[in-house]
Amino acid sequence: MPLPPRRIGILTGGGDAPGLNAVIRAVVRSATTASIECIGIEDSFDGLIFPGRTRRLTVADVTGIHRWGGTILGTTNRGNPFAYPQPDSDDLIDYSERVVENFNALELSALVVIGGDGTMAIAHAFQQRHVPVVCIPKTIDNDIVETEITFGFDTAVAFATEAIDRLHATASAHHRVIVVEVMGRYSGWIALHAAIAGGADAALIPEIPFDLTRVAAHVNARDLLGARSSIVVVAEGAVPIGGKRSVIEPNRPGQAERLGGIAERVARELVPLTGKETRHVVLGHLQRGGSPLAFDRLLATRFGSHAVSLIRQRRFGVMVALRSDSIVDVPLERVVGRLRTIPPDNDVLRVARDMGICLGD
Ligand code: F6P
Repeated sequence: MPLPPRRIGILTGGGDAPGLNAVIRAVVRSATTASIECIGIEDSFDGLIFPGRTRRLTVADVTGIHRWGGTILGTTNRGNPFAYPQPDSDDLIDYSERVVENFNALELSALVVIGGDGTMAIAHAFQQRHVPVVCIPKTIDNDIVETEITFGFDTAVAFATEAIDRLHATASAHHRVIVVEVMGRYSGWIALHAAIAGGADAALIPEIPFDLTRVAAHVNARDLLGARSSIVVVAEGAVPIGGKRSVIEPNRPGQAERLGGIAERVARELVPLTGKETRHVVLGHLQRGGSPLAFDRLLATRFGSHAVSLIRQRRFGVMVALRSDSIVDVPLERVVGRLRTIPPDNDVLRVARDMGICLGD
C-alpha cells in the first residue's frame, strides 16, 4: 500500500485567467484539511527548472486571494521545458530531466497543473515520465475539450459585454459602425456569447469564414429599420473567406503565433462598402484581468477541491472537468492536442441566427 501523499506542488501555466487564484486557494485549503503540504512553483514549469523559484504555501498565504485576478505564482506561455526558447537564438533546450530531478528533490507526491492546452500537453509528457499530475483546465478562450466550460470564460464574456454596452452609446449617438475585437484564439466562444449578451449586430468567428459584403449588406439594411449604427464583434482568429488570419507575431520556436489586427482590417474595409463612419476597438488583455465573477470563483474552487481529492485517491494523468453540473475527471490523452471550437449545430450559434445577428456567411 503506497504512503498517502504528504507534499504536492502547484503551478499555473499559459496566459492568466480570472479564477487562477481561487484555484490555488482551493487546492491549498483542501490539501491542508487533508494534512498535505503545498509547494507553490513560480512561473509555470520555470519554477522547476531554475533554482529558488518554489515556496511553501499555507492557508495564511492564500487568504482572500480568490477575489484577485492574475496568479500569485506567476505564469508564462513561453516556457516549455522540453523545448525551452533562448533569448538570443532560435535554439531550444530540453530541460525536462532537470524538472524531474527537482520534482524528486522537493519530495513531491504529485503536481497540480493549472493551464490551457499547451500546459496540459507538457503535463501529459511529464506524466509519461512518471511525474504524477492532475490538471485543471483554465482559459478565457473556453477552447478545452472534455469540459463544458473553463473558469475565466464567464468573467471575460461579462467584460466584453459591458464594453459592447458602452460602445452602443457612441455608435448610436454618432450613427457609426464600431468593430470590437475580442480574444479567443482559434475559437469564437467569447465573440459569440458577448455578441448575443451585448446585442451586437454581427459576430465574426473563426469557425465561420466571413464575407464582408454580407456584413455590409446587413449594416446597410439596418438603415431601413431606422437603426443607423451597428456593432460588429470580431474574434481575433476570424478569417475572411479565402483570406488569411491576422497575425501580430508569427510562430517562432517555443512560441505560438500572436493573433490580432482583424478589427482594424474589418473596420477599414467596411467604410467603402457602407459609406459609414467606422471605428474599431481591441479589448485585448483587459478581458483577462479583473476580479473573477462568482461563477468563475465557484467553478475554480470546485476544480481545486476535486484535484486534491483525486490526488488522495492516487488518480493521476487526468484533467478535472465540468459535466452536467458535476465535477469529473478525464484522462489527459483525451484532451491533449485537441481544440474545442464551436460546432455548426451549437445551440448558442442557432440563437445568434434567430436573433438576426449576421455571422458573415
Ligand atoms: O489563451 C488566452 C489568450 O488571451 C488568447 O485569447 C490570446 O490569443 C492569447 O492568450 C494572448 O497571449 P499573450 O498574453 O501572450 O499576448
